[in-house]
Amino acid sequence: MRILATIKVMKPVLAKRLESLEESATLALNARVKQMVAAGETIYNLTAGELDGDTPAYIQQAVAKTLHLNKYTPVPGMPALREAIARHASDFYDVPFSPAQAVVTAGAKPALGAAFLALLNPGDEVIVPTPAWVSYNHLIELAGGRVVEVPLTDRWDLDVRAIAKAITPRTRAIIVNSPHNPTGAVFTSASQRELAKLLTGRPITVIADDIYNKLVFTRSFQPITKLGFKPDQLVIINGWSKSQALTGWRIGYVLAHPDVAAAITALLSHFTGNAAVPSQQAALTALAAGDVPGKLETLRHRRDLVAQGLKRIPKLNFVTPGGAFYFMIDLRTVTSDSAAWCEQLLTKYHVALVPGEAFSAPGFARLSFAADDATLQSAISAIAQAVTKKD
Ligand SMILES: Cc1ncc(COP(=O)(O)O)c(C=O)c1O
Repeated sequence: MRILATIKVMKPVLAKRLESLEESATLALNARVKQMVAAGETIYNLTAGELDGDTPAYIQQAVAKTLHLNKYTPVPGMPALREAIARHASDFYDVPFSPAQAVVTAGAKPALGAAFLALLNPGDEVIVPTPAWVSYNHLIELAGGRVVEVPLTDRWDLDVRAIAKAITPRTRAIIVNSPHNPTGAVFTSASQRELAKLLTGRPITVIADDIYNKLVFTRSFQPITKLGFKPDQLVIINGWSKSQALTGWRIGYVLAHPDVAAAITALLSHFTGNAAVPSQQAALTALAAGDVPGKLETLRHRRDLVAQGLKRIPKLNFVTPGGAFYFMIDLRTVTSDSAAWCEQLLTKYHVALVPGEAFSAPGFARLSFAADDATLQSAISAIAQAVTKKD
């Protein structure tokens, strides 16, 4: 009894580096909404950062034939997969990449985390254009870096003048994520060219998070290598979570200078080891099939449906996304507290959006249109009611 009592009062001591770490706000909210649904509530859940639907059938069938494979692969991935990534990237980016530059990871998140650990010394600054996806700041800080947030323009483009002002002798990297989460924006070629010019000759790495580069609805999109950035200056992050609906398979990669790739490999050799073998097989299958996103037309239709619906709601503003599957809705004419407004939207109107606070953008809310038409239509009607308070 006495031992039990002692255990009860003992509080675990956590490392200082975790003091400011919070669970991913989007994942936490999504889990909460799923719990509400499991408890019998009808919720129009537009928080998801993933496509609806199952694993594509062609991937299921191909991977089923390889389930006997159970051994470790090389840490940076199966040679055939690294070769396929290098071939695909050389083609897409129109610059040569070698297999030695590709490291396969258990999703894009570990690719980013490992890249920051490989590049940052304590106090090194990373410019993060905001709004920004939830994990960048935490991953940078875990690696000892300092986040320098620089807002995007009102139209969700890079504000290169503001970026220039934010550069200091400690600036080590900048994040460029286009198409962009949470706004769905495709940054203009002009702003990216201007950024490339600004960075020329500076020891600043561009972390190009290209995870949505297969989900593009606008012809103006250009791969980052065609906009004046030098390949040696880039660390490219990608994976199959978003384009192939493989979020739960945890499979991504980083493409970088061979020395950076080798450093990331050494790091992962002690941490995750290789990415799961069936997931590597899934990636190989997707690349062999041409890595074609199956849902692009459906997504374009849903984007247009949501845009038309939102346009009819007075006071709400938004910029129509050019890629990914998100709208960032401007709530500033509706409320001074977007977190409270989203909470009320969930509990009273049964629609789940992610409040902009999660993306360093209070006053906004992210709507994911990776949902079927009926869900989107019901959600938009409920949002209209919440805004006009006709209930
Ligand atoms: C911009 C961005 N980068 C990276 C990721 C992480 O992708 P993964 O699920 O492959 O780790 C996400 C997922 O939401 C994302 O939106």
